[in-house]
Amino acid sequence: MSDASDPAHSPPEGFETRAIHAGRDFVGETGAITPPVWLTSTFEYGNPGGFDYTRSGNPNFRLLERALASLESAAHATVFASGVSAITAIVSTLKSGDVVVAEENIYGCTYRLFAQVFAKFGVSIVYLDFTDPASLEKIAEHRPALVWIESPTNPNLKVIDIAAVSRAAHEAGAEVIVDNTFASSFLQRPLELGADLSLLSTTKYTNGHSDALGGAVCSNDPAWREKMIFAQKALGLQPSPMDCWLTLRGLKTEAIRMERHCANALRFAEFLERETEAAEVRYPFLPSHPQHEIATRQMNGGSGIVTADFGLDLEQTLRFVESLRYFPKAESLGGIESLCCHPASMTHASVPREQREKVGISDSLVRFSVGIESVDDLIRDVRDALARLARS
Ligand SMILES: Cc1ncc(COP(=O)(O)O)c(C=O)c1O
Repeated sequence: MSDASDPAHSPPEGFETRAIHAGRDFVGETGAITPPVWLTSTFEYGNPGGFDYTRSGNPNFRLLERALASLESAAHATVFASGVSAITAIVSTLKSGDVVVAEENIYGCTYRLFAQVFAKFGVSIVYLDFTDPASLEKIAEHRPALVWIESPTNPNLKVIDIAAVSRAAHEAGAEVIVDNTFASSFLQRPLELGADLSLLSTTKYTNGHSDALGGAVCSNDPAWREKMIFAQKALGLQPSPMDCWLTLRGLKTEAIRMERHCANALRFAEFLERETEAAEVRYPFLPSHPQHEIATRQMNGGSGIVTADFGLDLEQTLRFVESLRYFPKAESLGGIESLCCHPASMTHASVPREQREKVGISDSLVRFSVGIESVDDLIRDVRDALARLARS
């Protein structure tokens, strides 16, 4: 008979339990329930934790890495100063002549890094529309080292079939990296779907409070772990202990925050679709979303981002965005507070207009990061702003 008190026979712990308890082994002799911030640049040689210098590791990094690995169903996670640092770490493993095949709608700074930095080192990138099943057959033609996707994408909220892309990429001998930032670890775990690497800008939903920057790369492959640890120290991409402490505190409430983000965003999207004259409203869990079936299959909820095209001109769109009360116009997303962004002039301004328009980032596109406020107030805010605009 199995012994229920034997961990080997216990059912796996839930996401919420792991978010709060993973990596609590810092306690040592103190009994502290929350960890300290180890504000030290260096460590005495021969310490039992194996730490030497904070650029190559710190107890606050380690606690966060253990928790993130657990939440992403990964064997390892490595933390970085930002999501962009995590992207840099992965691409730094490539060599001149390597090709990356990427989804054509990726975050503007990822696009800029490839175009303006990595291209100089001979790494090239080919863009495909991964919502088109024919794109899967084109992967092998380019003999890529990596296939790079986001799902949902920033800002068009395209949902990419991670399992199908992973199968096609593996057949072509390539590894797959999924930028999981828009979904969050609570709603989607790319490694369970067959991807090799999951990348997070922990700045967003992981931390959830808009008070720390960070990034992480999660994998099951010890070789990737070694490469990421090397990049963290050799390229100086490490985070600060304080940001790791804040992010670990933030992720303890990731499950409950995400449930509220999803509920609010769905109601907000339904309101936009039903009651406004928006030409298009996108939200992965709206039945009208073009990849709704894939979204409900690979995500546990639609997350908190909604986009809408109100069919306004540039000047009216900016006036609308700037007149909202509960949605400050700001870069970033995924915090408890709602934010509003005009991708063409903000997050994706670094993407040339021609490429922007090709992938559907028009001047009239508005991106809402729906927070955890009372959703009735958020809806009223948008209704009033649209009414004021119509009267002016
Ligand atoms: C999808 C996605 N990936 C990566 C990043 C970069 O993250 P960070 O701002 O933490 O560098 C962002 C930032 O907005 C993002 O939206």
